Amino acid sequence: VKNGILAQDNYLSSGLPPPKFRLFQSSSEVLMNQSQVKIWLQDTFRELSSVDPYKNVSENLSQIQKSVLHIVGSDVPILSRVASYLFEVHGKRMRPAIVLLVSKALGTDVCAKQQRLSEITEMLHTASLLHDDVIDDANLRRGIESANSKFGNKLSILGGDFLLARASVELARLKNVEVVELLAIVLEHLVKGEILQTQVKGLNLSLLDIYLAKSFYKTASLIANSCKAVAILGGHNSELQDIVFEYGKHLGLLFQIVDDILDFESSSSKFGKPVLSDISNGIASAPLIFAADENPELHSMISRRFSGPNDKEQAITILQSTNGLQKARDLAWDHAGFAVAAAMRLPESKYRESLIRIVDLALHRKS
Ligand code: FPP
Ligand code: MG
Repeated sequence: VKNGILAQDNYLSSGLPPPKFRLFQSSSEVLMNQSQVKIWLQDTFRELSSVDPYKNVSENLSQIQKSVLHIVGSDVPILSRVASYLFEVHGKRMRPAIVLLVSKALGTDVCAKQQRLSEITEMLHTASLLHDDVIDDANLRRGIESANSKFGNKLSILGGDFLLARASVELARLKNVEVVELLAIVLEHLVKGEILQTQVKGLNLSLLDIYLAKSFYKTASLIANSCKAVAILGGHNSELQDIVFEYGKHLGLLFQIVDDILDFESSSSKFGKPVLSDISNGIASAPLIFAADENPELHSMISRRFSGPNDKEQAITILQSTNGLQKARDLAWDHAGFAVAAAMRLPESKYRESLIRIVDLALHRKS
C-alpha cells in the first residue's frame, strides 16, 4: 500500500519529458528526439483520423446517464436534483469512454463491474466540478448555468458531497479492495491538487514542477487510476495495469495543459465555461510559467498571485510577446508522445486505435 502511494507521489521525476523519448513499437525499441516524436505522432494521428473512438463504446456510454440518475435517487429530492444536474447535459464523457475503451483494449468485453467503474469515474469527476465551481466562483459549466449559480454554494457543495457519497457506495459494491484503495487515493489527490495550485512559494520546487504535480493530482490521477482499476477488475496482470496507468497519466497531463492553453485562447461560448479563469483566480499555469522564463517581470506578478491593480492585463500582454503558449503546446505534445507510446504496448485492436485517437482529440480540442 505504502509503495503504491509513494510510487504515485514520486512521479515528479518522471513527469518531465527526458531529452530523448523512449518509445516502444511492437518488440523493437526506438529512440527519438522531441521533433521526431512530433512527426511520428502526426503520421499516427493522420492514419487514424477517421476513427470515432466514442462509437466503439456508444452503447455503454448511453447507459451512464440512466445509471447515474438511478444511483443518485434519494428521499431528499433536492440532493438528487443538484447531484444529477450536470448530467442533464452531456459533457465530453472522455473519462468513461477511456475507461470503457481500456477494458476492451485489454481484450475482454466490458463486464458489469467495469461498466460501473466508468460511471463512478464520471461521478467523482462531476462531484469535483460541483466543488470546483464554488471555489472558482464560476457561473458557467458545460455550456449551462453552473450549479452554484443555479442552486447557490451550500447546495452545490452538499450536492457534490452526495454524489461523492453515492459513488463511494457503488465503489464499495464492486467488492475489490485494491480498486477502492486506488480511487480513495484519487480523492486525496483531487484535494491536494486543488490546494497545490494556490501555492507558489515555500515548496522548494520549480514552478513547472509544482504545475506538473498539481496537474497530476487534479486531473491525471483520476484518469490513470481509473484505467488501472478497470484493468484490475478485468483480472489483467500488473504489467498491463502499469501500461494503462501510464497511458492515463500522460493523457490526463496533456488534457490539463491543453485546458490551461484554452483558458487563454478560447471563448466562454466555445469552451462552455469561463475563460481567463486561472489568472483571475491568481493561478499561473503552463503558458505563464514558460513566459516567465523569457520575461522575469512575470515572476513578481505570479508571486503576488496577480493581485496588483493591472497585473492581469499586463501578464496577458507579456504572455502574447513570448513563446509561452507555444512552449505549453510543446509540453502537451511531449505527453501525447508518452501516452501513445504506452498505448502502443497494448495488443493491436480497434480499441487501441480509439485510445490513440482520443489523444489526438484531446490535443486538438477547441472546447
Ligand atoms: C477543475 O479545475 C477541478 C478539478 C479537476 C478538481 C477539483 C477538486 C476539488 C474541488 C476537490 C474536491 C473533490 C471532490 C471529489 C469533492 P479547473 O478550475 O482548472 O478547471 P475548470 O476550468 O474546468 O473549472
Ligand atoms: Mg474551475
